[in-house]
Amino acid sequence: MLWLKRILFSSVGCKLVVALTGLGLVGFLVAHLAGNFLVFVGPEAINDYARQLRKFPLILWILRLGLISIFFIHIAFTIRLTRLNKISNPQKYAVPSRELSSFASRSMILSGLTVLSFVLYHLAHLTFRLTNPLFEQLGEYDVYAMLLISFQNPIIVCFYILSVCLLMVHLSHGISSSFQTFGIKHLKYNKIVENSSIALSIFLALGFSSIPISIFLGLIQ
Ligand code: HEM
Repeated sequence: MLWLKRILFSSVGCKLVVALTGLGLVGFLVAHLAGNFLVFVGPEAINDYARQLRKFPLILWILRLGLISIFFIHIAFTIRLTRLNKISNPQKYAVPSRELSSFASRSMILSGLTVLSFVLYHLAHLTFRLTNPLFEQLGEYDVYAMLLISFQNPIIVCFYILSVCLLMVHLSHGISSSFQTFGIKHLKYNKIVENSSIALSIFLALGFSSIPISIFLGLIQ
């Protein structure tokens, strides 16, 4: 077991864990967006979906615990990786080579922290329903009404849009560097991997933003 610990906590091991958990979180986002799109179908569709999710509480909680673990492992190994990089390469931080790194790669920690703050607010807002007294009058499965009430407020709409834009910045670099970690990035395919990562990030940001925007503009009623 000691060998496993040594590999996991080495720089390469940390990179692999960060990449794997990061891709797991992207998988969650794709599934979450697909579920959220049901709001465009109508109240029954999305409320039914919420009802189905809660039909098997044990499975739901196993999935939730899995997601929380992946999220925290991703953060913990990112912190360790940053420390290891600082120890092994201190001069890099004295003279940063800005021209070699993109804005997205330089701001990974900052964009990651913003996504974390957003997720904490988002859980308080829509999962624990702590932010609006009107939610208490709604049924447990009335996700549709909850979204309609929330996204009438321009401040909440702007906050969601800004957060998913920062999520896009984080993912655009994160997805392509995960593939690089797995050794999939090859000189020949560099541009394809990079462009696909950017395209998926933009798709997710536009998809998530389309919900608050459509509700705010009255396209969903
Ligand atoms: C505007 C876009 C979004 C909308 C409309 C939205 C909507 C929702 C709703 C309605 C729930 C509660 C589901 C329920 O109680 O049945 C939820 C839960 C959640 N959302 Fe989002 N979401 C959005 C974006 C995001 C993003 C970008 C992330 C991650 C960065 C995220 C992460 C989560 C998590 C972790 C949960 C908790 C899941 C659970 O209860 O097990 N969401 N979201």
